[in-house]
Amino acid sequence: MTTSAPRLRSSEWFDTPELYGWLRKAAFMAEGYGPEAYDGKPIIGICNSWSELTHCNAHLRGLAEAVKRGVWQAGGFPMEFPVMSLGEYNMRPTTMLFRNLMSMEVEESIRANPLDGVVLLGGCDKTTPAMLMGAASADIPAIMVTGGPQLNASWRGETLGSCTDCRRYEVELRAGRITQEDWSDLQTCIVRSPGHCMVMGTASTMAAVSEAMGIALPGNGAIPAADSRRLRLSELAGRQIVSLVRDDLRPSRVLTPQAFENGIRTLHAMGGSTNAVIHLTAIAGRLGIDLPGSLFDALSRSTPFILNLKPSGEYLMEDFFYAGGVGALLREISPLLHTEQMTVTGQTLGENIGGAVNHNADVIRGIESPMNAEGGLAVLNGSLAPTGALIKPTAASESLMTHEGRAVVFEDHDDLFERIDDPDLDVTPRDVLVMRSSGPIGGPGMPEWGFLPLPKKLLVGGVRDMVRLSDARMSGTAFGTVAVHVTPESAAGGPLAAVRNGDRIKLDVPNRRLDLLVEDREVERRLSESPPARPIHKRGYAAMYARHVMQADRGCDFDFLLG
Ligand code: FES
Repeated sequence: MTTSAPRLRSSEWFDTPELYGWLRKAAFMAEGYGPEAYDGKPIIGICNSWSELTHCNAHLRGLAEAVKRGVWQAGGFPMEFPVMSLGEYNMRPTTMLFRNLMSMEVEESIRANPLDGVVLLGGCDKTTPAMLMGAASADIPAIMVTGGPQLNASWRGETLGSCTDCRRYEVELRAGRITQEDWSDLQTCIVRSPGHCMVMGTASTMAAVSEAMGIALPGNGAIPAADSRRLRLSELAGRQIVSLVRDDLRPSRVLTPQAFENGIRTLHAMGGSTNAVIHLTAIAGRLGIDLPGSLFDALSRSTPFILNLKPSGEYLMEDFFYAGGVGALLREISPLLHTEQMTVTGQTLGENIGGAVNHNADVIRGIESPMNAEGGLAVLNGSLAPTGALIKPTAASESLMTHEGRAVVFEDHDDLFERIDDPDLDVTPRDVLVMRSSGPIGGPGMPEWGFLPLPKKLLVGGVRDMVRLSDARMSGTAFGTVAVHVTPESAAGGPLAAVRNGDRIKLDVPNRRLDLLVEDREVERRLSESPPARPIHKRGYAAMYARHVMQADRGCDFDFLLG
């Protein structure tokens, strides 16, 4: 008995008597491909977010060529196509405003074209989650290949990482401890090679979590962008995607609830970015999987933080790679993982990490000697954050984990920058800096403004951390006692809108509380007296965004894109 190969999705575009079936073949001929190049072969899309405006992704064309080689080797037919790119430094007001738009473009580009499988090329913070969201919705076989981290930077004998150390030295500049000349000199070397930021920021976190969830190949998380092994990984992805098409292994079979739990545990074990909580929630939402804040917090309490990387530790991604990378980290925490989960290698996660070795126990700590007994993130609730807020205790000051102080309120980002360095600002180191109007609706797009600068007069006096909170996000490269994603945001009528100068605020991380110590009735009165002004966007994408974006606890996805 013979079994016939499953019918390829792409054949529907060509095996049709309609004129367009004929024209599509003519169009391929126009690019130099006769039917023998693709007939009966899986057509593999290479979804490329390369852009010169996104320096982290500027090398992805080279990876695309490697993917193509792999696809040809395995008997597929590669077709590269562009999607929008989200460059963290260049895009204003924030790349997060456009993450959902990019995800829609990825989804519809896949859905509309004669593709049987897709390799996704991303790297900079939002490009990886946008691609995973789009691929999850389109649900044809897919492999994520990220661009890899930059090489370690070195300045005046010190090893530095972007942009944790940019932020650290900016503070020193404002405090008058380095000169403008020093600052300019640092600028020349902080981004040393292609690739994404090389601390455990959002890009590194999403690359590593993709590997842990099984949607990226082993090695994806940490191989540096400039290392030739990144090219070989890309070539392997090209070969492997052809197998996935033959096995019909789709994202919905890989990204299961258990796979997301693996991803969340990895996030906590690495001290990863707060932004990953939003992105994982959004990707899961596309597959109809709910990831409540309580799940993130429960897994944090039972996952040791074992990766000694900035901003929570000492080392950088290049060191992580030499120590064994994500595979070695996963092997350390394997008793906590669902190792039976299927991955894009066609094997289980347990099989993937079976041979992984930890070569440096100072970079990747053992589960018995962690950096911290609990994970890198804590989910807060309380009267100031009824549906949640996040803090990264591993990158915060131990002495501020339980703290009560007087609120010093800034109405928005502009107000903050106008007044923060005012010598007459009424502020002490024990106060709590509060900023609002920075959430998904208020920002709009929930910019990374949550790393509120400290008042200059306190910096000069030696203060280096205070409790700060907002409805904004914070870069994964940032640090400090900073509560972000306060939800509901002020522009949606959350209690944050009711905080006044001088109110008492209490942060209690051990008990996961963030409270405004003001009577409920008084909060309601204030909110009813001055309802928050929603920004008015009259046209275009921004208008659609403001109408449909959900709050941070729902991943900031659009309500109409849920699976
Ligand atoms: Fe692209 Fe940091 S700027 S990852």
